Amino acid sequence: MIQLEGITKSFGSLQVLKGIDLEINSGEVVSIVGPSGAGKTTLLQIMGTLDDPDAGTVSIDGTNLSRMKQKELSAFRNKHIGFVFQFHQLLPEFTAIENIMIPAFIAGVSNREALTRASEILDFMGLKERASHKPNELSGGEKQRVAVARALINNPAVILADEPSGSLDSHNKEELHQLFFDLRNKFGQTFVIVTHDESLSKITDRTVHMIDGMIQY
Ligand SMILES: Nc1ncnc2c1ncn2[C@@H]1O[C@H](COP(=O)(O)OP(=O)(O)O)[C@@H](O)[C@H]1O
Ligand SMILES: [Mg+2]
Repeated sequence: MIQLEGITKSFGSLQVLKGIDLEINSGEVVSIVGPSGAGKTTLLQIMGTLDDPDAGTVSIDGTNLSRMKQKELSAFRNKHIGFVFQFHQLLPEFTAIENIMIPAFIAGVSNREALTRASEILDFMGLKERASHKPNELSGGEKQRVAVARALINNPAVILADEPSGSLDSHNKEELHQLFFDLRNKFGQTFVIVTHDESLSKITDRTVHMIDGMIQY
């Protein structure tokens, strides 16, 4: 589903990724762990086409993204990749359901269709009664679940999450982790999750260890 080959990346004179080869299968839930500064976020951003590698190729679902132009790339990303960040990044002026609908609007989906999809996802997550709340009226766990719902609205094949439970207490953490597996089991999505949380990395299908810009085998 995701293929990375020979990925390198430097910021100035600092080489952050030193040749990453990684293959992730369809429907796999993979965790990426490693010390702070190892290059995990940089790798995830490159995997998600939010950043360019200096060298190497990224393919998703058989499509080589390295050759795509920016415009094509944003359309591909919007359709095939969902992102969940450490801090939910919800827009404060919009309600939960509006936040969830935004990527669908970007994809050109009609208002009615976006509303139907967003309502279904909220329902699936047990957040129906929170639909018209703004982010500051939601708990940390609810905000993060809304962020996951937003990542799901265009039914992407791949969900990339960067320390998604980093700011949650242990109960909400566990609920969010369970949600990832429920989604994979129900919709077959592929998950790549950067985490410091051992209780999560222990239950993923595979754990990739990163140290100093390299994958440790
Ligand atoms: N945009 C950037 N400009 C300069 N340095 C960066 C940038 N992004 C990350 N870095 C540096 O690259 C290294 C790896 O960062 P990152 O990928 O965020 O690691 P991790 O997520 O594993 O903590 C760090 O030393 C960080 O300071
Ligand atoms: Mg990071």
